[in-house]
Amino acid sequence: MIQPLRGMKDLMFEDSQRFVHIVTTAIKVARRYGYGYIETPILEETALFKRSVGDSSDIVSKEMYQFEDKGGNDVCMRPEGTAGVVRAFISAKLDRQPVKQKFYYYGPMFRYERPQKGRLREFHQFGCESFGEASVYEDFTLIIMIAQIFEELGIGFELKLNSLGCSECMPPYRENLVGFLTEIKADLCEDCNRRIGTNPIRVLDCKNETCQSLLKNSPKLIDNLCDPCDSDFKKLTALLDDAGIAYEIDTNLVRGLDYYNKTAFEFVSNEIGAQSAIAGGGRYDRLVEYLDGKPTPAVGFAIGIERIMALVKMPESSKEGYYMGAMVPEAVEKVLMLANTKRKNKKVTVEYTSKGFKSHMKGADKSNARFALLIGEDELANGTVWLKDLETKEERTLPIEEIV
Ligand code: HAM
Repeated sequence: MIQPLRGMKDLMFEDSQRFVHIVTTAIKVARRYGYGYIETPILEETALFKRSVGDSSDIVSKEMYQFEDKGGNDVCMRPEGTAGVVRAFISAKLDRQPVKQKFYYYGPMFRYERPQKGRLREFHQFGCESFGEASVYEDFTLIIMIAQIFEELGIGFELKLNSLGCSECMPPYRENLVGFLTEIKADLCEDCNRRIGTNPIRVLDCKNETCQSLLKNSPKLIDNLCDPCDSDFKKLTALLDDAGIAYEIDTNLVRGLDYYNKTAFEFVSNEIGAQSAIAGGGRYDRLVEYLDGKPTPAVGFAIGIERIMALVKMPESSKEGYYMGAMVPEAVEKVLMLANTKRKNKKVTVEYTSKGFKSHMKGADKSNARFALLIGEDELANGTVWLKDLETKEERTLPIEEIV
């Protein structure tokens, strides 16, 4: 028997209902903030992710579903959504227009990670990307929007916040950090040693406890921001204070993708185990230019749909529509025609096999219909239907035209 690949899942019944509820809720909120839908290909040139997410990131160096297609192109299944949206933004020459653009998307992402609870190889994100707005007010607005999505889904969260500085303050900080790391090099893990040379900032979020204790006294970027970055970060925290959104400043929050600058954030849940990040994002003001577009400030986020699936409080499903069935074979087609008419605006479950009363009522119950409608011998002869309101329990026989 062929099974799905490791780290990949089929989604059905309760889970697929949760999935749809999450996506529709997120879309509803994103539209209130002026976001429009964008769909980009799942398969892109590998170079796109190397240049955006970063060659030295785990995602690109270890986790890509990368292969040569039949035309000899080096391609890759997208590990995240931002790079493709930025590529589309530039492909459509939107970087050459003064208009601000806001896009939302959702769909599958692929990372060849070691699967565990909350960590899949194919997972789904809902994300938003806002282009052309350099103000920290936009960072604030995005964070508020995510909080609103989680609130509407009934999900509690903690917000972690950091600033990764800009091209002014990051390089001297990085040098400073490398100096510090070089001194404690011998005691740091193998991964950290490699990263000192490739991507020293990532050392800060090493999960190794020994490394973390050694990093306690490391220089913090937040204390070394240039004036504009410092003022923006203070503005952001003040706005969040005013809005009543609690946050924790986490100086080790560096994100696993290389394109960020200034604001970086993660929403975490303490109810789902080790893989606790339920959304992540931040500002990426240099990425459009880096992918050969005109310099355009941008900020965005993505929510991990599978991670919040179990946390979502589903709305009560109320009885809806009709269950229709025939008690004699001659009535089946009558029922079928009636169902087709009614389906123009109502949910209808039809049973094609004529059955006894009890069996139909079981079917009606299972379909969660509001009304059970049956046609038997008498009804067929008289041009009527038997109808029961399954909420009020009221039963009636009425002319078929009344239902149409
Ligand atoms: P990310 O933090 O890599 O950011 O992913 C966002 C969210 O996707 C995570 O917080 C997590 O909930 C979910 N996620 C990531 N990997 C997995 C996995 N293996 N299994 C299940 N869920 C996972 C990004 O992808 C950025 N593109 C976000 C962004 C948009 N930044 C700016 N714009």
